[in-house]
Amino acid sequence: LIVIVIALALGLSLSHRNEGFKATFIARCEGFHGKSKGYDCQKIWSAFEQAYVGQDPCKVPVEAYDPLIAAAPFEPACNRMMFWSKTQDFVHDFTEKKDCFVTLEDTLLGFTLDGLTWCGKEGSSETFTTGCPGWSQCEKNPVRSFWIRASDGFAASACGDVTAMLNGSIDTPFSPTSIFGSIEVKRFNSTTVKTLTVVLVTQESPTTNCTNASLKDLQKELDQGIKYTCKDVPESKINECSSRPDVPCGACW
Ligand code: APR
Repeated sequence: LIVIVIALALGLSLSHRNEGFKATFIARCEGFHGKSKGYDCQKIWSAFEQAYVGQDPCKVPVEAYDPLIAAAPFEPACNRMMFWSKTQDFVHDFTEKKDCFVTLEDTLLGFTLDGLTWCGKEGSSETFTTGCPGWSQCEKNPVRSFWIRASDGFAASACGDVTAMLNGSIDTPFSPTSIFGSIEVKRFNSTTVKTLTVVLVTQESPTTNCTNASLKDLQKELDQGIKYTCKDVPESKINECSSRPDVPCGACW
């Protein structure tokens, strides 16, 4: 009897935890205050789930999320799109305080899945949140494939003047193997993207500036016709700007 009770409790808590993931997904999706309202979050959940449920968690290709992107397409936010690499906390702190740029994590899908881990299992119809492969453990894991697909879609929707916040405190602010370097920069299309401004966020005593060799590699990857500019901006200047509501975003760098 004890064994049965333990098994039941375990089963219940397990199914509870998996339901918890879906509940988080739906709650975040419904709580998202994007421009256009009326998303069908149940439908978006179904499109999401079909990408990895019942699959080997190391065999989820990027394309598995195509139906999800089709169900919740990225709306172009011309002149407001913000990309980043190795500046995650800083950039999101900035976009949270100043409402003039949109990162992937400020879109419905990015907002809903930010910070979450999920995977399926062969022969199961459930979503698991533990025991999933890590980011680099196997290439085609559900989380990594999602972020690649979402980044690709987000960058494909880019238009006008685009901004990227890179880290001026490291030796190679532009890494060709990062998502920004391997997916997003390649996706910018000169028919829609006019300029790319790199904001290189530096410390008081900068280790890197806009002459950094890795930024030459970035320019080589850019579609011909997209105008490139780079600005070294001290972190303190951006912080000051985001803490003052009267300063327009255009004056932050
Ligand atoms: N291991 C674990 N997590 C990783 C790894 C890794 N090797 N690489 C990337 N990630 C995940 C983590 O969640 C990490 O915080 O991606 C995040 C960003 O990684 P960065 O290397 O800082 O940036 P990058 O790979 O360029 O991705 C950021 O892609 O998400 C889009 O639009 C977004 O422009 C942004 C860019």
